[in-house]
Amino acid sequence: MKLYIETLGCAMNMRDSEHMITELTTKEDYTLTEDAKEADLILINTCSVREKPERKLFSEIGQFARIKKPSAKIGICGCTASHMGEEIIKKAPSVNFVLGARNISKISEIIHKDKAVEVAIDFDDSTYVFDTVRNTGVRALLNISIGCDKKCAYCIVPHTRGKEISIPLDLIISEAKKLAESGVKELMLLGQNVNNYGVRFSTPHQSINFAGLLNKLALVDGIERIRFTSPHPLHMDDEFLEEFASNPKVCKSIHIPLQSGSSKILKSMRRGYSKEWYLNRIAKLKSLVPDVGIGTDIIVGFPGEDEEDFAHTMDVLEQVGFDTMYSFVYSPRPHTESFAWGEEGMVPKEVASNRLSILQNKHREILKHKAKKEIGNTHYVLIENIKSGEESFSEGRSDNGKLIKIPQEILKIGDIIKVQIAQSDGGSLIGQSAL
Ligand code: SAH
Ligand code: SF4
Ligand code: F3S
Repeated sequence: MKLYIETLGCAMNMRDSEHMITELTTKEDYTLTEDAKEADLILINTCSVREKPERKLFSEIGQFARIKKPSAKIGICGCTASHMGEEIIKKAPSVNFVLGARNISKISEIIHKDKAVEVAIDFDDSTYVFDTVRNTGVRALLNISIGCDKKCAYCIVPHTRGKEISIPLDLIISEAKKLAESGVKELMLLGQNVNNYGVRFSTPHQSINFAGLLNKLALVDGIERIRFTSPHPLHMDDEFLEEFASNPKVCKSIHIPLQSGSSKILKSMRRGYSKEWYLNRIAKLKSLVPDVGIGTDIIVGFPGEDEEDFAHTMDVLEQVGFDTMYSFVYSPRPHTESFAWGEEGMVPKEVASNRLSILQNKHREILKHKAKKEIGNTHYVLIENIKSGEESFSEGRSDNGKLIKIPQEILKIGDIIKVQIAQSDGGSLIGQSAL
């Protein structure tokens, strides 16, 4: 039996897809295929954070229905499955089942039930142990919590993934050990608010917070690097920042979603922090780790955003000098607070896309400038990718998150190599191994 799976959205969904693949290849008789035409089961793991990809879902289902084997089943999983549920089968009768983001541990049951819908967002699989057979290579994703307790005005995620529950410490540690034994060197810890870890468990549990978790994970032999995504700016207390700075296994790059630089907009977004708090945390972080790599997410065109608000966002961009930035035009989503505002305060489309290009152009400039300043610096790079042939190269990330290409050298995947930056190409870094 062949399984074809398409994964949209964030790292959380990538991890959920890995879990479903493991369930289906160990408990059921499936092997993966890259060709939907020969598949017996087609899964789309969906994302609903913005409207556009969600709109494309139904045309995609139609395409799969046309090319699939007559006996093949189609299952819609993930966040859109969570919030649309049965409506998906009504709109697209070729769909055999719908499995919400909070229910993926039920995958090997649901594939045997026709027209089944499992989308309860209060279902709790925080103690479910997924099998670990997989070939992740040197990096692996590892969930530390599910769901999200925040109520950001624009965000659909709490309605697709339910309330926040931390995964018990012993499960996380035993998973990390298994991963290390299979050759994994770098962990990417996943949660919507990782630094809120430990606030709620679904079974009796000793008290622990995110700093404590990082501390315990650093003791796992074989794990050389620990990253995580995303921490919430609101929970970036000194204890967390100090653990981040002093734990030698914690990589010195961090994603801190800003969303907006305007305190007024942050307030109506219900983010719980101000521009001043955000900058204060960045200043503290930079004082502890001067070379830290910082990434962010920004939304432009949130209802009520005027030129002055946008100028605050530009100001934070320039002050922080983000190393990576994911930026989006605000997209109204069902079930959210700002969706209910209707047209009130809506920023015209052209104004919002214009702001997005101004932001992105500025960011490109910043990256170019930062890359130039890197020439001559050395970094320790975990080799993740190699290409042989005429244009051979090795590639990997530095501790502080910079992607570095090493041309004409074939290094060993999984090794951590000292590399000196020789050149920059736009915002990209090119280096050679150094002694
Ligand atoms: N838990 C993370 C984000 C998860 S969603 C956090 O708190 O930051 C990933 C990103 O999608 C968000 O950071 C936000 O920038 C973007 N996003 C979420 N809802 C959106 C919407 N309605 N319109 C545009 N972008 C959105
Ligand atoms: Fe969405 Fe806010 Fe939760 Fe992030 S913290 S997932 S943006 S509600
Ligand atoms: Fe992730 Fe998209 Fe769901 S960003 S949490 S897959 S809505």
